[in-house]
Amino acid sequence: MKLSLTSLRSKIFLSMIGLVFLASIMILVVTIMQYKEEAEDYHKKRLLRKETAVKVHINSILENTSFEVKTDKLKYIFKSNGSTRGLSSISELSRIHKMPINIYDLKGNLIVSSLWHFKEKNDSIKHLPAYIIKKIDESPDKRYIIKHESPDGEYQSSFSYIYNRQFKPIAILNLPYLADSTFYKKELEEFLKNLGLIYLLMLLIAIVLSYFLSRYITKSLNTVNDILKKISFSKENQKIIIKNPNEEISQLIETYNSMVDKLEESAKKLAQTEREEAWRNMARQVAHEIKNPLTPMRLSIQSFQMTFDPDDPGIKSKFDEFAQMLIEQIDIMSRIASAFSDFARMPQANLEKGNLVPVIKNALKLYDPEQVRFVSSDDEILFNFDKNQIQRVIGNLVKNALQSVPDDREPDILVSVRQTADKIFISVTDNGSGIAPEHQSRIFEPKFTTKNSGMGLGLAIVKKIVENHNGKIYFNSDKEMGTTFIIEFDK
Ligand SMILES: Nc1ncnc2c1ncn2[C@@H]1O[C@H](COP(=O)(O)OP(=O)(O)O)[C@@H](O)[C@H]1O
Ligand SMILES: [Mg+2]
Repeated sequence: MKLSLTSLRSKIFLSMIGLVFLASIMILVVTIMQYKEEAEDYHKKRLLRKETAVKVHINSILENTSFEVKTDKLKYIFKSNGSTRGLSSISELSRIHKMPINIYDLKGNLIVSSLWHFKEKNDSIKHLPAYIIKKIDESPDKRYIIKHESPDGEYQSSFSYIYNRQFKPIAILNLPYLADSTFYKKELEEFLKNLGLIYLLMLLIAIVLSYFLSRYITKSLNTVNDILKKISFSKENQKIIIKNPNEEISQLIETYNSMVDKLEESAKKLAQTEREEAWRNMARQVAHEIKNPLTPMRLSIQSFQMTFDPDDPGIKSKFDEFAQMLIEQIDIMSRIASAFSDFARMPQANLEKGNLVPVIKNALKLYDPEQVRFVSSDDEILFNFDKNQIQRVIGNLVKNALQSVPDDREPDILVSVRQTADKIFISVTDNGSGIAPEHQSRIFEPKFTTKNSGMGLGLAIVKKIVENHNGKIYFNSDKEMGTTFIIEFDK
């Protein structure tokens, strides 16, 4: 199949695949976001839970301590490492709750830290920045969490107050927490792998589906297209019949079919008016042609009547002259009458299947074979035709051809007939003086002639006969080379 980017077919194809692709990307993005949010939420809750547990623990230590519960005593309460109070040491607390614990005073100076021994050099944890203290104080739940990414995961560090028995804040508790998302990441990876597989499958299905869908749609479109190409105003148009078309195509076909009907109707009307017009013209012409000789006839009869003298000795010769003149005029009238009746009486073609070659040969017998030559592509060219009418066509064309050759030239007329797989061509070529460009559009009109004695009906008759055989006639003409008339029949 050939695919251009603008064809409907490739558009369907590409949009379908694009859609699947887009959907998969959107699902991917949404899923990752969802996972991230869930993981964050989980860690937030976990941190809060831990914080609560640590605080409960710290509160119980504060309740049981023998020290006064004051900021500056905290370092003794949590640092004491003695055997009796061992459980209250900050490192013990950190061990139980499995996370580092820092306690700052309200100004942000570190009091005790479970990381003390190896973080001693680390100044950054010794003093809290002022903004953190401010944030804790400003937040409604007196709590603040900072997050930052580190190579081993996301750190969340929570800050909240430690209160004394009177619920007055005496210190700031800091729990640095590494949000370990490996579990979530694994699950996400698993899910994405499955999603990828499913979408790969869907992509394959989409490709196959869109291939057949686009083929189905464009197939009917192509059928319509083929028929539309054959539309012609000169012959009957075929209606479209497609089995099981889809809705849009069937609308298109309906429109086309009704157009064919209308076209046929108007073609019929046009033919009707053309016929009527032709007949009107013809009647006018006949009247005109017959009137022409009538006037001189009337005048001669009148003058003969006036000058008639039976005693005139030359009356005999005068009468003969007069009669001769009348006979001539009558002959002209009769010629006109028969030419017109020939044209008018053009019978319906009596089509019979036969060999065209001998019929044309026969029509040329009247002419000098030196002047009119005949060639044929085959000995037998079978065609459905009216023998008499085709002979008349050949006769008229050859007569015109001979007449077109000026007196100072030897006529050389070539009549040829040849056939192709589905057509038959008959051509008549002369070496005459050509058809003047200004006459070319009119030569097939009845009564058009450039000759003194011509009736101008020859080519009109030829054209009518050719059309009776569903054929076409046209010509090429050149002032120097002469003229070729070509007749084209469908087999
Ligand atoms: N072979 C030809 N070469 C030049 N002119 C031609 C040829 N055939 C026809 N014509 C032109 O077409 C006109 C019409 O021809 P036609 O209908 O046969 O009428 P007529 O022969 O009576 O004039 C001619 O008068 C002539 O001018
Ligand atoms: Mg003629």
